[in-house]
Amino acid sequence: MARRPAPALVAVSLLVLALLNLDAARGQPLPPTNSSDAAALHAVFRQWRLEGDTAGVVDPCLMPVLSESSMMNASIDCDCSRGDECRITHLNVTGYRNITEIPPALFNLTELVSLDLSNNNLSGSIPPGVGNLSKLETWHFNNNHLNGSFPRELSLLRNLQSLWMFDNYIEGSIPEFIQNLTNLTDLRIYGMKLQGPIPNFFSNLINLEHLMLGDLEGKHSSFDFIANWANLSTLSLRKCGLTTQLPNTLPTLPKLKYLDLRSNNLSGAIRLLLPYKNSEYIYVGENNFSGPLPAEFVRPSVPLDVSYNPSVNGRLPNKPAGQNWLINYIGTSIDTSGTIDRSNNPELPSHERMQQN
Ligand SMILES: *[C@@H]1O[C@H](CO)[C@@H](O)[C@H](O)[C@H]1NC(C)=O
Ligand SMILES: *[C@@H]1O[C@H](CO)[C@@H](O)[C@H](O)[C@H]1NC(C)=O
Ligand SMILES: *[C@@H]1O[C@H](CO)[C@@H](O)[C@H](O)[C@H]1NC(C)=O
Ligand SMILES: *[C@@H]1O[C@H](CO)[C@@H](O)[C@H](O)[C@H]1NC(C)=O
Ligand SMILES: *[C@@H]1O[C@H](CO)[C@@H](O)[C@H](O)[C@H]1NC(C)=O
Ligand SMILES: *[C@@H]1O[C@H](CO)[C@@H](O)[C@H](O)[C@H]1NC(C)=O
Ligand SMILES: *[C@@H]1O[C@H](CO)[C@@H](O)[C@H](O)[C@H]1NC(C)=O
Ligand SMILES: *[C@@H]1O[C@H](CO)[C@@H](O)[C@H](O)[C@H]1NC(C)=O
Ligand SMILES: *[C@@H]1O[C@H](CO)[C@@H](O)[C@H](O)[C@H]1NC(C)=O
Ligand SMILES: *[C@@H]1O[C@H](CO)[C@@H](O)[C@H](O)[C@H]1NC(C)=O
Ligand SMILES: *[C@@H]1O[C@H](CO)[C@@H](O)[C@H](O)[C@H]1NC(C)=O
Ligand SMILES: *[C@@H]1O[C@H](CO)[C@@H](O)[C@H](O)[C@H]1NC(C)=O
Repeated sequence: MARRPAPALVAVSLLVLALLNLDAARGQPLPPTNSSDAAALHAVFRQWRLEGDTAGVVDPCLMPVLSESSMMNASIDCDCSRGDECRITHLNVTGYRNITEIPPALFNLTELVSLDLSNNNLSGSIPPGVGNLSKLETWHFNNNHLNGSFPRELSLLRNLQSLWMFDNYIEGSIPEFIQNLTNLTDLRIYGMKLQGPIPNFFSNLINLEHLMLGDLEGKHSSFDFIANWANLSTLSLRKCGLTTQLPNTLPTLPKLKYLDLRSNNLSGAIRLLLPYKNSEYIYVGENNFSGPLPAEFVRPSVPLDVSYNPSVNGRLPNKPAGQNWLINYIGTSIDTSGTIDRSNNPELPSHERMQQN
């Protein structure tokens, strides 16, 4: 049987820790963690078996980092600015493949602003308790095994800015309530079992900077959900069942840097995409575009994928010597006149590479 430390010893240790942990800015000791937050975190970490000797002994905000490595992270951040107590505002537990459950106590951490549980092995469905975390701005649950549909309670997280759910098994249609989360700047939902269409009211999401949707089944979508988003820099709509003809006037996306429309069945003249010619990535392969490939798209340093668009034609210019130029043109009618090294059929950067940016 393990010996429990004497209460007096624990009290002295706590005092020493509190004295050592001076707030650098003010030279003041940190106040204690709110007892409700501390109890909830303790319950969560106990269920995940992440606490060692410190369980219930060290105040959580005095030891915010449990583990930090390229493989696994377990840490919190606290807001101690109120002076009399600290509140837990960030919880990051990532990379633990042995973590499979979402503990109910997690939803007692009601001051959380950021919750990153990506790259674990969480399974089952998302509990309705998420509705109690109404201050959340960051929700990263990507790369888990979550299933079921998006719970209605997610609609209560009106402050969400970053919602990452990619690479799970969530099913059902894309929830309409997302259109109400107008603070969203970063929405990534692909690699799941979701059904189209993409709701037209997504055009409300005027603050979007990164939109990555993909792998949708079911009903087809048109381009109508894309508005003149002033800040959009990533538009990735791979396999979204976009089957329409491109409109003659595309939405104005002045900040666009990454355009990925691969694997839809969009049609119309490829020159209609010219408003996006300054994008630093142009992936429009596996569609049904037609007509000559505009020279503006063919720029050294801009990865270009026009493959498998049977009716796209034109000529590719000489490949400049020494340039690391990524072009995918297989399966099109493009005339390369032997000017391009035909062995140059590289893997273009993928969603996964994008996430590092
Ligand atoms: C701690 O947090 C709970 C739950 O948010 C709150 O009701 C309570 O007033 C806070 N402060 C203390 C000292 O418990
Ligand atoms: C979570 O909050 C509920 C309701 O306030 C309380 O009954 C429960 O004991 C709390 N759980 C933990 C682990 O703190
Ligand atoms: C998961 O693995 C970590 C690190 O190896 C370990 O500390 C923890 O106790 C494990 N948790 C569970 C639930 O097995
Ligand atoms: C926790 O994750 C958020 C969002 O992923 C990140 O901004 C923050 O720096 C991380 N905090 C810690 C302590 O790792
Ligand atoms: C852990 O955090 C470090 C530094 O913030 C980061 O480089 C690393 O990718 C993170 N690992 C995981 C598994 O999230
Ligand atoms: C993830 O959890 C599933 C059960 O949901 C289990 O079969 C699988 O082995 C786990 N994966 C890892 C890497 O632990
Ligand atoms: C939120 O917490 C309160 C009490 O703390 C509880 O009564 C309510 O059911 C919770 N809501 C959800 C959606 O879990
Ligand atoms: C979700 O996965 C769990 C096991 O991880 C399974 O028991 C449950 O039936 C699944 N639910 C759905 C809706 O697929
Ligand atoms: C959205 O962001 C603005 C500006 O940061 C903020 O004032 C507002 O409270 C946030 N939440 C909602 C629901 O609009
Ligand atoms: C969006 O918000 C409006 C106004 O708050 C509400 O009436 C509507 O039901 C919400 N829509 C969805 C799909 O949640
Ligand atoms: C776009 O970004 C700018 C600068 O960060 C910001 O002021 C603005 O509110 C953002 N949203 C829109 C819709 O322009
Ligand atoms: C793409 O759309 C064309 C009509 O524009 C249709 O003939 C063709 O079968 C579609 N291809 C696929 C793979 O859906």
